Amino acid sequence: MNNRSKSLIYAATIGLIIVAIFLGFLSSITNPISWILIAVLFLIPMLYKKIKGDDQIVWKEEYSVGIESLDQDHKKLISLLNQFITAYDYAMSESYEREALDDLIAYTKYHFSREEELMVDNEYPDVVAHKEQHRKMFEQVEGFVELYNEKGHDALDEISAFLSNWLINHINGTDKEYTEHLTGRGVK
Ligand SMILES: [Fe+2]
Ligand SMILES: [Fe+2]
Repeated sequence: MNNRSKSLIYAATIGLIIVAIFLGFLSSITNPISWILIAVLFLIPMLYKKIKGDDQIVWKEEYSVGIESLDQDHKKLISLLNQFITAYDYAMSESYEREALDDLIAYTKYHFSREEELMVDNEYPDVVAHKEQHRKMFEQVEGFVELYNEKGHDALDEISAFLSNWLINHINGTDKEYTEHLTGRGVK
């Protein structure tokens, strides 16, 4: 069952409970069933979140590459990724999903070129291999965008898992390898 169907079932359940509460109160304001259902209504969002799990990514100090401008970029990327995951998890409209995906891709592109420029300007010895990782990632992302154009919402599970894993592993692995060289050149 995809997230869109789950969201529809969730909304329908909430709707039915509200109707039942209303009907219960029509018979009597002290109807205990209505009061119990009101309590259930408050508990459902918490249960829904617990069952579904929280996919949001939280920035950790250990992700820092020791260079303020690039840490800011990485934080922004994580926040755009979370925005995209929210659009997917809550099966928002197609335009919101696409906008969140486009924003994430555009900022990733911007960040990659900024990071590459800094590595080139400071003669980082592994710049070619690093750029190759960025290029390959972008190739995969372009493939995912095509998949999204074909399959729509159903493609997002795969896209969201790939982007989350790739970005965190890249920031926390390959990116950190330039820290010593760049900070040694006085990059802050
Ligand atoms: Fe980076
Ligand atoms: Fe990078």
